[in-house]
Amino acid sequence: MPLVTSKEMFEKAYHGGYAIGAFNVNNMEIIQGITEAAADLKAPLILQVSKGARAYANRTYLKKLVEAAVIETGLPIVLHLDHGDSFETCKSCIEDGFTSVMIDASSKPFAENIEITRKVVEYAHDHGVVVEAELGTLAGIEDEVKVSAEDSSYTHPEEVEEFVSKTGCDSLAIAIGTSHGAYKFKPGTKPQLRFDVLEEVSKRLPGFPIVLHGSSSVPQEFVEKINKYGGNMPGAIGVPEDQLRKAASMSVCKINIDSDLRLAMTATIREHFALHPADFDPRQYLKPARQAIKEMVAHKIVDVLGCDGKAF
Ligand code: G3H
Ligand code: 13P
Ligand code: ZN
Repeated sequence: MPLVTSKEMFEKAYHGGYAIGAFNVNNMEIIQGITEAAADLKAPLILQVSKGARAYANRTYLKKLVEAAVIETGLPIVLHLDHGDSFETCKSCIEDGFTSVMIDASSKPFAENIEITRKVVEYAHDHGVVVEAELGTLAGIEDEVKVSAEDSSYTHPEEVEEFVSKTGCDSLAIAIGTSHGAYKFKPGTKPQLRFDVLEEVSKRLPGFPIVLHGSSSVPQEFVEKINKYGGNMPGAIGVPEDQLRKAASMSVCKINIDSDLRLAMTATIREHFALHPADFDPRQYLKPARQAIKEMVAHKIVDVLGCDGKAF
């Protein structure tokens, strides 16, 4: 099966009350860990590449590694550009064979966001590629741009119909309290997503797939392991998984996870070197790191996304 777009995946997810995991990929072990878990559980999958990941691994390697995963697993896999920052980046990914792109003009004024997004949609649709857009601003760090909690803003539901109808985008990322990175909520506070905003958006866009960015849960076992083996991660708090499960049962069809993969990988490698300080063969520490990613993704698929068994 070749790479697919998310169109059919989202239709099934919307009506089935589950979501597809969109996992960020940066190298071979991450791609293998994610896709092995999805293959075991027969889960549809979105593998997403950020501009930073593309710069790190170069544009050919990640594409070819994802193609290898398609051959190895036979799964329906979407290759998606995460946080495309311009028409040119989106165009370049479409030329490379991505089946889905995100144009993130959420920091721009409403009219400008519409204009840029519509331009990307026109080009993408002409090439059989789907487009995710964003309304509202998440806090956190992405591609080295830091947005403080004070500068973040929830999506205004009254804007979504105009935005979607004027841009023609295929899915919409909204801000309901999630944020990028490992430090999402203040220590001591009780994380709570704005389900009222999600409900209002869904009411105004019936049948339309909604996307949640910044949806890592930041498992404390990994934070503790990192700190036990020489790290220093104070007050790292993520989105509660039961709230993500609830969102997946509503109109949210795509849930983005990157930080949890980073935590699983880093905690496992730190532990490995603490226990085996003489090791210097990369395979010795990347193998358990890949396995930790596989276990993490399997847990997300079954307990958070609910998309196990939905691949075919
Ligand atoms: O939302 C951002 C993703 O976690 C990707 O992060 O730009 O550091 O690759 P990155
Ligand atoms: P996390 O940092 O919560 O994993 O979010 C990832 C993301 O939104 C990628 O676009
Ligand atoms: Zn994101």
